[in-house]
Amino acid sequence: MEWRQRIYCGDLIPSDAGKDVLLMGWVDAFRDHGSLLFIHLRDVRGIVQVVFNPEISKESYDKAVGLKEEYVIQVRGKVALRQEGTENPNLRTGGIEVLAHEMEVLSLSRTLPFKISEKAIAFGEDIKANPEKVDEELRLQYRYLDLRRPSAQELFIKRYEIIKCLREYLDGLHFMEIETPFLTKSTPEGARDYLVPSRVHKGKFYSLPQSPQLFKQLLMMSGMDRYFQIARCFRDEDLRPNRQPEFTQLDLEASFIDEEFIYEIIEELTVRIFALGGIPLPRPFPRMTYEDAMERYGSDRPDLRFGMAFEEVTDILKETGYAVFRQVLEAGGCIKGFCVTGQADSLSKNVLQNEYALKIAPSFGAKGMTWMKVAKGRLESNIVQFFSESEQGRLKDRFRAQEGDVLLMIADTSRDLVNKVLAALRLHLAERLRLIPEDRYDPLWVTDFPLFELKDGKLGSQHHPFTMPDRIDFDPANREECLSLKSRAYDLVMNGEELGGGSIRIHRMDIQRKIFLALALSEEELEAKFGFFLRALEYGAPPHGGLALGLDRVIAMILKASSIREVIAFPKNRSAYCPLSEAPSYVEGSQLKDLGLAFPAAGFAQERALTAPGEKGTIPSDSDRISPDHVRHIAKLARLKLTDSEVLLFQKDLNSILEYVETLSELDAENVPPMSHVIPMKNVWREDKPAKAGKAEEILSNAPAREKGFFKVPKIIEG
Ligand code: AMO
Repeated sequence: MEWRQRIYCGDLIPSDAGKDVLLMGWVDAFRDHGSLLFIHLRDVRGIVQVVFNPEISKESYDKAVGLKEEYVIQVRGKVALRQEGTENPNLRTGGIEVLAHEMEVLSLSRTLPFKISEKAIAFGEDIKANPEKVDEELRLQYRYLDLRRPSAQELFIKRYEIIKCLREYLDGLHFMEIETPFLTKSTPEGARDYLVPSRVHKGKFYSLPQSPQLFKQLLMMSGMDRYFQIARCFRDEDLRPNRQPEFTQLDLEASFIDEEFIYEIIEELTVRIFALGGIPLPRPFPRMTYEDAMERYGSDRPDLRFGMAFEEVTDILKETGYAVFRQVLEAGGCIKGFCVTGQADSLSKNVLQNEYALKIAPSFGAKGMTWMKVAKGRLESNIVQFFSESEQGRLKDRFRAQEGDVLLMIADTSRDLVNKVLAALRLHLAERLRLIPEDRYDPLWVTDFPLFELKDGKLGSQHHPFTMPDRIDFDPANREECLSLKSRAYDLVMNGEELGGGSIRIHRMDIQRKIFLALALSEEELEAKFGFFLRALEYGAPPHGGLALGLDRVIAMILKASSIREVIAFPKNRSAYCPLSEAPSYVEGSQLKDLGLAFPAAGFAQERALTAPGEKGTIPSDSDRISPDHVRHIAKLARLKLTDSEVLLFQKDLNSILEYVETLSELDAENVPPMSHVIPMKNVWREDKPAKAGKAEEILSNAPAREKGFFKVPKIIEG
């Protein structure tokens, strides 16, 4: 292959006109003009139009007639400026074309499961590929095709640039990139571990790291002053749109530093990488304590792109005549709310009362919701008459409410519930009223987290037990005092998303012991979990601290990707499953035996898998099993919409049916006479009175779900 001569399609420029070039790539689009054939040839750097003209090369023209989308070809041709009026402004190379005089097909392609081409071959023509419209599951199944789309490749080119930028920045600060192990012991980040069984140490397991936390601290104790790693982390936790079971962190740690060092370098680094996406960030990043964040926004990752911060009005309404509020206050509760500026017209009384007060707020856990509007200088609401003039005036002042504003208030005996409900209402309203500016980025440091929290009545670390408390003179036996301690931890938050987190760590064994005492961890437990780490603390550990950024989240935000899956080359779907490789999958019985593993309770399929080769029964291959994709396909044909967990249930059931069917072939049916039916058929009729036609209530009396006089059946999907 003459790869030395190859030129990238996207690199051609008008001044190349007249040059003979060798191009290699994929047929992106195809257009037959009768006497001329046009193709878009695509490689990783871009697309160029290639023209096959029988007058230039009859042989190439004849071969080109058989080309189809995504064939891989090599073309030799002369670069030419396009005729005036035929330029394609959609292409970077739109001013030129390559007149082919030689062409070779390097490989063929089957018909595509979805369109890849994103550039119209003629100006004004429709662009065919629309990833939004292709089922994500199908895109993930054929991810290598999905990644051929120039816009998908662009995300990875940018991802690489971002990672290069942060590597260079940290290198300049003398941070060293060091790898830490994957086959290791559990790290305390709060999720479940992925376990890897050991063949050599039967019955024992490695854990895949939830983060390099303990090892990076050990590196500090090794004297490796400034460490970083683009680290893969593994967490078996409930999936959310911005979570993946394996994801990448920019993990870093430094010695002889304090919080300000971390704020300084992370702010600079964040500003630099957001600038790569054309997003300027203001510095310094504002800071907010955890307590303020919870009291003002009901969240430890508040979205500051819009207002509606909470105000407390408990003091104003101490003596109120409104019975609902008075009862809550008498029971020691609180009343808080927020002001929706200028939205009185968008939020009618009907919407506020019948939707928000009666349905939406209760769905978030509230017992009720109070609303008021400012109209003609006065407060208006269905209950405003219960509030004195002075109370109304003070409420208006507290919320700084102006004409056309709407006030929402929640009262409850639980302060946490009030904050939680207001937070949910704030987001609901902001989305409904489109109050969130799209091109705004509001970074924030959240600081002073509580060191401990109560978990099932026991003291537990809010993050991990190696975080330094704000003071060290506490009594570990005094639970109240422990609960009042703050940690020297910090989270980097942007637009309501947690991008990173870290802390200053404990570097002295005496402090670490006090924390363990407070957590009531026994010596045995400590030794089993962290013995190796604690021993290291006794040999001269430097003061140190660090942080990890969730790189996939950061990159998705910078590149405005619709989900973190778009910026991960081969992500798992929402049920932690890889539609491309079909992982996780059953393994052969012999593998399980080697590992000394047996799953008596894992169901029939796994029992079958336990059967070793040569033993009775065959080892089922994964290819003939039902995958979640098969289930989704069947559901689609049946016009059924299934949730991810329903897909898994159906998958399990269908697989066990198949397993059962397989066993039927093993039945010895020789010499058994054929039977038509073993049990005689008999129709049974209900003996109670049939419902009278027209009496809908009676007819529907046994319906599991109903709506407006009809049976309610599961939703079906369209198209
Ligand atoms: P933490 O657990 O806060 O801290 O993780 C740091 C950041 O990693 C990202 N993240 C995730 N991204 C995608 N999918 C997930 N499942 C997922 N889980 C977390 C988030 C988060 O802010 N060892 C500490 C850091 C330290 O203390 O230095 C740690 O891992 O953006």
